[in-house]
Amino acid sequence: MRLDPFSGPYSRDPAITWRRINATPTSISYDDDLEMWLIAGHDNVHAVLSDTTRFSNAATMLPITALTADAGDILAGLDAPAVAVTADRPHHLRTRAILRALMPTTAVRAEQQWGPLVAARTDELITGMKAGEPTDLMHFAVQLPLMVIHDVLGLPTTAAQQVRAWTGDFADLVWGKPTADAQIAHAYSSVALWRHCADIVASRADSGHNGPGLIGELLRYRNNDDTNLTIAEVAALALNIVGAGWTTTAGALGNALAQALADPSRWALLADDEHYLNLHVEETLRHSPAIDGWLRLTTTDVTLDGVTIPAGSRCLVLIGAANHDPSVYSEPEVFDPRRSRGGQHLAFGAGPHYCIGAALARLELTTALRALARRLPDLGLAAGFRQQFKASAALRQLTSLPVQQHPAVRCPVAHGTSAAPRP
Ligand code: HEM
Repeated sequence: MRLDPFSGPYSRDPAITWRRINATPTSISYDDDLEMWLIAGHDNVHAVLSDTTRFSNAATMLPITALTADAGDILAGLDAPAVAVTADRPHHLRTRAILRALMPTTAVRAEQQWGPLVAARTDELITGMKAGEPTDLMHFAVQLPLMVIHDVLGLPTTAAQQVRAWTGDFADLVWGKPTADAQIAHAYSSVALWRHCADIVASRADSGHNGPGLIGELLRYRNNDDTNLTIAEVAALALNIVGAGWTTTAGALGNALAQALADPSRWALLADDEHYLNLHVEETLRHSPAIDGWLRLTTTDVTLDGVTIPAGSRCLVLIGAANHDPSVYSEPEVFDPRRSRGGQHLAFGAGPHYCIGAALARLELTTALRALARRLPDLGLAAGFRQQFKASAALRQLTSLPVQQHPAVRCPVAHGTSAAPRP
C-alpha cells in the first residue's frame, strides 16, 4: 500500500486516498516508499494511539524523509529533553501531569481563562482586514493561533513572525519531503527555534522573575528544584506547545472556514446558532483533521488484524482514514455536521497522549467562526477556489483560502463533500 502523501492528488484531496485505504481488506500495510507501516481503521487507530506500552512516542519528531549527513549534524543542536508528546513513561506521565495541573482542559475553564484574550486577538485581526478587498483567510487562520499561543505561553509577540517561519520549517523537516538544500535551512531554523525557547526560559530563571504566562507558571512550579522540572524541560515544554499550539489550529481553522464558506447557509448559521457552531467545529475535526497521520514506534512485535509489525518499526497512524472509516461513519466524505457519532473522531488523538490543548483549540475555532460570520456576513469563497494543502505526511493546512465580499459564488471544496445544513 502507498500513501503517497507528497503527491498532487493527496495534497488536493486526501479523502480519496483514505477511501482507497479503507476499501482494502487489511487495515495494516507496509509502505515501501515511506519505509513505514500504515495503520488504518477506526478501532486500530484508537487502540494504537492509546497503547503507550507497545507503541512509543520516541520517534514522533524524527524526520520522515531521511536527512543528509550535513542536515543531521546541524539538527543535533536541537538537544531538547523528551517531554509530553515526544516522551514515553515516566517522563511523559510526569510532564503531562504538570501541564494538566497548570492548563485549563475543559471548555468552561478554557473560556474563563483564555476567552477574553482569544476574543481580543480575533477582534484585532478582523478589524485589520481591509473592507471590500480580496483577502487570504489563511493569514487570519495562522495569525490567530500564533498570537494566542504566544499570549498563553507568555512569549514575546515581537518575535512571533520569526517563530512562525521557524516552526513552519521544522514541520517541513519532520513531516515533509524537503530537498537537501532545504533540509540544511530547515535544520538551522529548528535549532534557532529551540534556542529561542531555551534562551527566554533561562533568562527568566536567572532573573528570578518567572515572567508571564504558562512559562512563568512552569518556572514557579519548578521552584529552583530540578527534581520538579529542569530548566531544559521547561524550555522543551514551551517548544512543544508553541509548535503544537498554532500549526494544528491554523490547519483546523482553515478547514472549518473552507467548509463554512462553501455554503452560504452554513455561514449564516455560524453567526447565531451556537449548537450548529459546535457541530460544525466537530465535523471539521472529523472530516478534515488538521493532523491526519501521526507517528509511533513499536517497542515489541505487535500483531494487528492478523499482520505482525516487527519491534522497532516506524508506524504512520492514519487518523484521517480512521475518521473516514465507513464502518463508523456513513458517507464519510460528506461534510454533515448533524451526523450521528461525529464526536467519536480521533482528531485530538486518544489515550494517555490525548491533546492537552483541545479545549483551547475548540475555543479558538468557535470564537473565530462566530466573529467572522457575524462581522463579515457577505463573505464567500473567491471564484475558482480549489483547495490545495501543504505537502505533509501529518499536517493538513491549506496553502491559501482566498475570499471576497459579495462574491455570490458557491465552490466545491472537496470531492463529494457538500451536505446542506439541516435547520
Ligand atoms: C485543532 C487543533 C489541534 C489538533 C488537531 C491537535 C492534535 C493533537 C493530537 C492528535 C495529539 C496526540 C499526539 C499523540 O498521540 O502522540 C495532540 C497532543 C498534544 N497537543 Fe494538540 N492539537 C491541537 C491543538 C493544540 C493546542 C492549541 C495545543 C497547545 C495548547 C496543543 C498541545 C498539545 C500537546 C502538549 C500534546 C501532547 C500531549 C501528550 O503527549 O500528553 N494542541 N494534539
